[in-house]
Amino acid sequence: MVQVTPLLLILGMVLVAPGYSAKKCVLTGRWMNELGSNMTIMPVNGKGEFWGFYHTAVTATTNKIQVSLLRGSQHRPNQQRHPTFGFTVKWSFSDSVTVFTGQCFVDEKGNEILKTMWLLRSHVDNIKDDWKATRVGTNVFTRLRPRQECSWEQGDSQASDDDDDSASCSFCSADCCFQ
Ligand code: BTN
Repeated sequence: MVQVTPLLLILGMVLVAPGYSAKKCVLTGRWMNELGSNMTIMPVNGKGEFWGFYHTAVTATTNKIQVSLLRGSQHRPNQQRHPTFGFTVKWSFSDSVTVFTGQCFVDEKGNEILKTMWLLRSHVDNIKDDWKATRVGTNVFTRLRPRQECSWEQGDSQASDDDDDSASCSFCSADCCFQ
């Protein structure tokens, strides 16, 4: 006699498995790092190229901070789950340039995270000062979500509720919530 249950199980796997795909990390959207800087990445094109806006929370200068343009590219859009990428910010309020390189991950809770390293090149007037013109560091970015998705009050921390999309946020500010 043929066992029906294992057959149904195999049939189910055959039908469901091709449709299954793990969540991919997508660069497009709004991000914030641990310094409080935020950036908006516009839709990535078919060649993996993108541009956007960067609003830094800090500066190595005494100049007034202004939003600056970023331009970059990523590997194989829509194909890789954790794509590598790089982008350049040409600061609009200083003579400096920062290059970021990193990788877009989906963590174990399903939250997207950008792990980056950067080089900030500041302008110096004399080649003798070249040795001190480049800073290096790391930044970790998490996705900013619209304030409407927060079901709790500004400034409240929230207990995790896995059924709710806003559960991926842990803190609300004026217009966004943070993971
Ligand atoms: C400047 O000070 O000349 C331009 C601003 C540099 C801001 C740096 S870039 C690396 C680090 N990450 C940030 O979000 N801001 C700082």
